[in-house]
Amino acid sequence: MNIEKNRAALRRPRKLAARPGGRLERCLLMCGIVGYVGARCAQNVLLDGLTKLEYRGYDSAGLALSVGGGIRVIKSKGRLTALRARLEEATAAGLPAAHCGIGHTRWATHGEPSDVNSHPHSTPYVSIVHNGIIENYGALKAVLEAKGYTFVSETDTEVLVKLIDSCYYGEPLRALTQALARVRGSYALAVLFRDWPDTLFAVRRESPLIVGYGEGENFLASDIPAILRYTRRYSVLEEGDMVVCKAGSVQIYDEFGRAVQREKLTADWDIEAAEKGGYPHFMLKEINEQPAAITATVSPRVEDGLPDLRIPELNDQRLASIKRVHLVACGTAMHAGMVGKYVIESLCRVPVEVDLASELRYRDPIVGEDTLLIVVSQSGETADTIAALRECKARGAYVLAIVNVVGSTIARLADCALYTHAGPEIAVATTKGYTTQLSALYLFAVWAAEKLGRIDEMRYNELVAELSALPARIQRAIDLNLHVKYLAGRWHAQRAMFFIGRNIDYAAALEGSLKLKEISYIHSEAYAAGELKHGTIALIDEGRLVVALCCQTALFEKMVGNIQEVKARGAKVLGLAPEGDRRIFAEADDVLFAPGGEPLFAAAPEIVPLQLFAYYVARENGCDIDKPRNLAKSVTVE
Ligand code: M6R
Repeated sequence: MNIEKNRAALRRPRKLAARPGGRLERCLLMCGIVGYVGARCAQNVLLDGLTKLEYRGYDSAGLALSVGGGIRVIKSKGRLTALRARLEEATAAGLPAAHCGIGHTRWATHGEPSDVNSHPHSTPYVSIVHNGIIENYGALKAVLEAKGYTFVSETDTEVLVKLIDSCYYGEPLRALTQALARVRGSYALAVLFRDWPDTLFAVRRESPLIVGYGEGENFLASDIPAILRYTRRYSVLEEGDMVVCKAGSVQIYDEFGRAVQREKLTADWDIEAAEKGGYPHFMLKEINEQPAAITATVSPRVEDGLPDLRIPELNDQRLASIKRVHLVACGTAMHAGMVGKYVIESLCRVPVEVDLASELRYRDPIVGEDTLLIVVSQSGETADTIAALRECKARGAYVLAIVNVVGSTIARLADCALYTHAGPEIAVATTKGYTTQLSALYLFAVWAAEKLGRIDEMRYNELVAELSALPARIQRAIDLNLHVKYLAGRWHAQRAMFFIGRNIDYAAALEGSLKLKEISYIHSEAYAAGELKHGTIALIDEGRLVVALCCQTALFEKMVGNIQEVKARGAKVLGLAPEGDRRIFAEADDVLFAPGGEPLFAAAPEIVPLQLFAYYVARENGCDIDKPRNLAKSVTVE
């Protein structure tokens, strides 16, 4: 390697343009990282990878490329189209094809999206893209300023790159090790050193990162879809791993600097699964994929008509020792957990608590060795959920993860995992993630109830048949509600909406309401129907739409009472009832249907028309459905 400079000279702090009045602000990121080294044009591979990762963040993006003996950085505020335009300008001005580079798409919660805050952050000698938070960046910045470094952005990442620069004397691994030893926080980093133009470096701590293996080329990425067009073979990096990645070799070192091998996995997702496949939006595609995703989740675990979770660790002895279940998750996954509470308590007769992961860790929970902690997560990388998992594990809980992404942090931290097989979910608003989580929870509940002797054979057989019927019921829910598009046209101009239901319908109402608000930006609230009159009914006014979920047939009469209450205050009602239950026509202004079947499993089919309703309302309102404002797919910061 040609290191042409005297590194002592390189240590002179280089003056970079100071940003006048620049505010020191932490930049929290949930972003996509991609890296490429090989014979292809790195610009094309990186842009392609970032396109697949844009769901992780989309307020700015950038590339750093090893070209002409230096590092060329091109970045831009805004969507990838803005970066693409800048790259085209640079190519027209003579930028050659690079063969080694790193890229980033960003979602900021602090520090405005701007060109200067975008990644990569660089010095003349090193360039990095970063996902995570440097908690002690303030103290580090002060030390670096004392050495003469100046700062142009508001980000913690700029502090990190200058810290690495200050430790760099021609040996990248030493510089990274020394710098990161002084850092508190979480990071996935991809790094280019100017003096090593054919090598990618990467480090991972508490933020996901994979290495992809090609023929004469290699990749780095935050997530599998970014590399799927080029290779299916990959390894998930472990905590503290450091990688040296060249076109013909990948060397991984563990946190103690020992050369290690990480298991090579093969992604069974096909490329089409990560593309729109003729649908106008990923969300609509993923809604339509639900029957197949549920089949993939349930059928491998029902053998000869009997559920078998295929988790040897969760044996009879372990199950018998469980005195309580704790379900922990965020957002939609927490809504799945709420349904899980009704189902597990009803079938297994074990007390179940549901916690928002972000709350659990601050409330001294009653969790011990007799607790089964069920952690629910699509991505397996949600920071709050990971923290809650760690907290409960430290208190002795046995952890079962219901998770979609194989090899994710949650899958690896848990004692055992029940994978949902939803395939890649790209739309920020989760749909198939939710219904496969429900299916896994139903499967667990039926399996555990039988093992614990809480249900008789007849009921067991009934429930197993219902599990197997779920994919067909979901398909029926799609087919039954073709008029939902028309209903969305009728109601899309509402300023606010309410969702009400009882029991499992209430849990489903929470999810229906979240879907609507996150993609259409219409304010919406979900209420337990009986609770509305204790205050919130004051918000019901003339013409306000109330979506009334009436799929718990035993509670239909009670729901009629609640529908009457809101109608008496001028509300219009969109009723959601089991197919064939014509009583709803007498009560509601408009009607959606969910196929009937086992009421305990009603949430899965009944959410489908609500997902479609949210989708078409957002479409009527011209919203960016797959990438709603202010959101990111994977929330990897607290
Ligand atoms: O990846 P996870 O399932 O852990 O994500 C949890 C939530 O962030 C997620 O469900 C979020 O609420 C979705 N955007 C909802 O559609």
